[in-house]
Amino acid sequence: MKSVTLNTLRDYKTRGEAFSCLTAYDATLARCADNAGIDLLLVGDSLGMVLQGHKSTLPVTLDHIRYHTACVARGKQRSLLMVDLPFMSNADSGQLLRDAGELMRAGAELIKIEGQAWMADGIRELDRRGVPVCAHLGLAPQTVHRLGGFKVQGKAEDEAQRIVDDACRLVDAGAAVILLECVPRAVGRAVSKAVEVPVIGIGAGPDVDGQILVMHDALGLDSGYVPRFVKNFLSGNDSIEAAFRAYDAAVKARRFPGEEHCF
Ligand code: KIV
Repeated sequence: MKSVTLNTLRDYKTRGEAFSCLTAYDATLARCADNAGIDLLLVGDSLGMVLQGHKSTLPVTLDHIRYHTACVARGKQRSLLMVDLPFMSNADSGQLLRDAGELMRAGAELIKIEGQAWMADGIRELDRRGVPVCAHLGLAPQTVHRLGGFKVQGKAEDEAQRIVDDACRLVDAGAAVILLECVPRAVGRAVSKAVEVPVIGIGAGPDVDGQILVMHDALGLDSGYVPRFVKNFLSGNDSIEAAFRAYDAAVKARRFPGEEHCF
């Protein structure tokens, strides 16, 4: 069984084929998602909401992320392991490098950072040291209080253009992957066309290169609020692994997300 690497994701993009991603936080469900053919697993700081019960991702610490990274790294075999840098890990360049280093030692293979074009220097520094980076644009949940809630980004023309420009700038700085959260379908399509690197979407429409969902959402676990871009893949399937296989197949056949999941 061949491991998924950044080259695998780039090859998917070159062939115009979509790839599948899910969040994962523990060894058993990571193994299950890996067995189902999911290409990339994310230890997301969403763990603060779905595991710890917080209202945002802000309380999540480096120690929390490191612990779950080590768990997932022990469970997965084939999937590429992406890991979130928690809130304020990018406070300065020294902390950014130290925290990213800790997560790579724990098993991360790709580090995800939220922000905008101002992350360019940090991404350049990490890339120079051999740490591949995914830049998370659009709705950045760590800035929820500045945004005034978990809201769709890039609805106005100038905001949409800024997201496309930021993606290009960060790829120039060395970002190996872009992740777009909660943007109109047209913005997802524009970013994916503008950059050569793979673009992963969540609530960004079907015209990006890969799709990601929070695992609990893909399993229909009730968190009190179901965003528009979520689909329950356990419904109609008789096991968690079957649900993950159904999600993988729907993404790869470009049946998910449908129009009803788009902004
Ligand atoms: O933390 C997370 O789970 C994420 C996804 C929503 C992409 O960043």
